[in-house]
Amino acid sequence: MIVCHELMRLRETITQWKQAGLRIGFVPTMGNLHAGHLSLIEQAQRRADKVVSSVFVNPLQFGEGEDFERYPRSLTTDADQLRQQGCDLLFAPDVALMYPELSEPVRVMVPRSLTGCLEGAVRPGHFDGVTTVVAKLFNMVQPDVAVFGQKDYQQWRVLSAMVTELNWPIEMVKAPIVRAEDGLALSSRNQYLTPMQRQIAPHLVRVLQAVVSDLSAGKRDFRGLEREASARLLAAGFDQVDYVSIVDAQRLTPACCADRDLVVLAVARLGTTRLLDNIEWSAV
Ligand code: PAJ
Repeated sequence: MIVCHELMRLRETITQWKQAGLRIGFVPTMGNLHAGHLSLIEQAQRRADKVVSSVFVNPLQFGEGEDFERYPRSLTTDADQLRQQGCDLLFAPDVALMYPELSEPVRVMVPRSLTGCLEGAVRPGHFDGVTTVVAKLFNMVQPDVAVFGQKDYQQWRVLSAMVTELNWPIEMVKAPIVRAEDGLALSSRNQYLTPMQRQIAPHLVRVLQAVVSDLSAGKRDFRGLEREASARLLAAGFDQVDYVSIVDAQRLTPACCADRDLVVLAVARLGTTRLLDNIEWSAV
């Protein structure tokens, strides 16, 4: 596996691959890789001849008082895992390369209707940081296909909107959520959990599954279902529920009876750790 910290080396390699007519797949990450990230590499390998992954903890997407400083960084182990997975190139730029003008970077922004709700309401400006860094990475890597996890559902939706609006010829793939045996969605932030909190954590997906069962059983009091689910999360031991929302899968607007494709999203906190999860549901 080639490891690049500089743009020139990355560009040379990409140019050679393009000249050879190879299709390039791309998986952006913030490192501290787990089986969820590696499943995205595998999805990219199925759709491309060469797979590039990036590891960059993006300061622009962290708000004041969030965990940018303490976000786990483990580049050597990440590189080993990517190598084992058969990834072809790891791009690991530093902050100065990504943001020569960090105090006033050019930003790429998707309209507030998609970025101001859900995660965007709790973390103002977060998605502007995500779209900006992914736009820059897309320009550097020039992928034919890019793979993102359903785990960050809104991120996937926002980035797909960016690609469509900016006419990038990139196929956007949404990969299923990889879970621990007890159902907890894998996340770099799970390692912050105490053993006691780790016991409570899988209730998040169970509560989402219960909402989905209610939808399948024909219940349509969406706001009532959201309130009930929040109460169940608190009763299970979560310290705070940021939101449980049933939304239209495309527009991310609160679900109404005419919507056929929905997603149920929840974010709840154990101590200061925020756990995200979601399940898609479609009317038959
Ligand atoms: P990060 O949190 O490292 O996640 C990188 C990718 O892995 C994202 O597409 C995310 O949805 C996916 N992922 C995380 N946990 C997963 C799981 N359990 N199953 C399947 N996929 C999973 O998301 C980011 O980084 C950043 O915002 C980024 C897009 C790299 C921009 O900085």
